[in-house]
Amino acid sequence: MREQLIREVEIIPLEVVVRNVAAGSLSQRLGIPEGEVLPRSIIEFYYKKDELDDPMVSEEHITAFGWASPPEIDDIMSLAVRINDFLSGLFLGVGIRLVDFKIELGRLFEGDMMRIVLADEISPDSCRLWDIKTDEKMDKDRFRRDMGGLLEAYREVANRLGIMNENEPVRGKGPVLVSSNDD
Ligand code: TMP
Repeated sequence: MREQLIREVEIIPLEVVVRNVAAGSLSQRLGIPEGEVLPRSIIEFYYKKDELDDPMVSEEHITAFGWASPPEIDDIMSLAVRINDFLSGLFLGVGIRLVDFKIELGRLFEGDMMRIVLADEISPDSCRLWDIKTDEKMDKDRFRRDMGGLLEAYREVANRLGIMNENEPVRGKGPVLVSSNDD
């Protein structure tokens, strides 16, 4: 279980966020209370640029600066919707609400053909996952908001998905905040 087949892609410099329920930066930006179900799923684009803190961009920016073409944006959006449908169902089946998630995509060249594929991990680091009954957070917000119980929450997600032995002990101490002044 430690091997992966890796395909090289040309990464598209966008972070694509799909939201089903208001939370995080959407709630802050638009003043919509966390937990409010959105009228429909919303797709947002952010330009991948750490120095700029990944600013939100529109399709206009993406096409004008040549980060992706209009047909590629169509492909990205339909992939994002398919992934959202698949994951929402998968998590719902184990009692978890998929609030939102972030993905990155890349161009995969095969001979003369090119297609856009998912080129990212999908994990509680890049999704918001809430328990369907209690709304308890089971994702990286536990770390971002210093709530504790991160490893237990990730383990619970893995247990529910049936990808981890229920009796396996939690390993490691979890992530530790590192100050940028500490070097
Ligand atoms: P946000 O509400 O902070 O914009 O985050 C939306 C979703 O994207 C959330 O599930 C967390 C995820 N995300 C990442 O995976 N990496 C990031 O750098 C950011 C800002 C968000």
